[in-house]
Amino acid sequence: MDISIQSLDLAKRRPKPVDEKNLVFGRVFSDHMFMMDNETGKGWHDPRIVPFHMLEMNPAAMVLHYGQGIFEGLKAYRWPNGKICLFRPEQNWERFNRSAHRLCMPEIDIAAQMQAVEELIRLDKDWVPHHVGSSLYIRPTMIATEPHLGVRPAGEYLYFVITGPVAAYYAEGFNPVKIYVSEEYVRTVRGGVGEAKTLANYATSLYAAELAKKKGFTQVLWLDAVELRYVEEVGTSNIFFRIGDELITPPLGGSILPGVTRNSVMQLAAHWGIKVIERRITIDEVIETIRSGELKEMFASGTAAVISPVGEISFRERGYTVADGGVGEWARKLYDEITGIQYGEREDIFGWIRRLST
Ligand SMILES: Cc1ncc(COP(=O)(O)O)c(C=O)c1O
Repeated sequence: MDISIQSLDLAKRRPKPVDEKNLVFGRVFSDHMFMMDNETGKGWHDPRIVPFHMLEMNPAAMVLHYGQGIFEGLKAYRWPNGKICLFRPEQNWERFNRSAHRLCMPEIDIAAQMQAVEELIRLDKDWVPHHVGSSLYIRPTMIATEPHLGVRPAGEYLYFVITGPVAAYYAEGFNPVKIYVSEEYVRTVRGGVGEAKTLANYATSLYAAELAKKKGFTQVLWLDAVELRYVEEVGTSNIFFRIGDELITPPLGGSILPGVTRNSVMQLAAHWGIKVIERRITIDEVIETIRSGELKEMFASGTAAVISPVGEISFRERGYTVADGGVGEWARKLYDEITGIQYGEREDIFGWIRRLST
């Protein structure tokens, strides 16, 4: 792919944030963005890196009406030796294409997705923060731009990638979250779009998340939409339970997003000799095993926080503390290992790291 590059005049480049420890997630963006267009019959064309700017869109652009849009989320990490690395980016490129397929959108060659991000970060490498635990968040996105009112897949699309520096998630150490089990609202349903990283899933989650916040909880624990019994995800993360000495996570079944961190946790735990089981788990079993003391740990996994220990859950207006409400041994060990690999401090035994040639 031959990417044209229009770089911002040095004089116009914005100052990098000085306080890398207190960056608010998703508010600060780097100087440049990648863009590429697609039209039925013409395919992907005009790949370009341009200064970060506002998008001009026809008000009838189909994404604005029918939600035909998908995205990804991953990070670039600056190692102590100055190298900039990505963690398992192919997983994101592949998931992006699965989301595209599900939303009737055109796929993008894996090598092209990698090249777009690599060249973008090469130009904006000074935006990759230095502070330990901070990173450059990368947001590849595709939207339907064809101006048309009427429900069908669009014939025109825009793919773009924006990036921005983000602080370490746990600035003051691990902080176990309090979660609220939603029995009234669901995120998605088998056969729906839950396994795709598409706009609708996040729009659907807002109402219950706001209710949970009003009640003093950080996140919602989502149950399956058919029987309202089986645990699926927590907030925008996957979920794990340590019951006895087994690590349990719900199986992907169409409604759960296949997290890159989820897969990494499963591989690492299995490598350490832990029995990792994908099976359905009911909210009743979770409560029973909290009561009996068999549930030793509960934690969420995702790119943003890596591992989020769950300290307390509220079900039918009753609060239950998970074990001692603190950070479990496996959650801590997984967090240390994954972040250690991401920042080049631990051996990359699975070959997960991609060094960028900046
Ligand atoms: C709904 C949902 N589940 C799970 C995850 C975790 O996925 P990953 O580990 O790839 O960040 C995310 C974040 O991308 C998400 O949005």
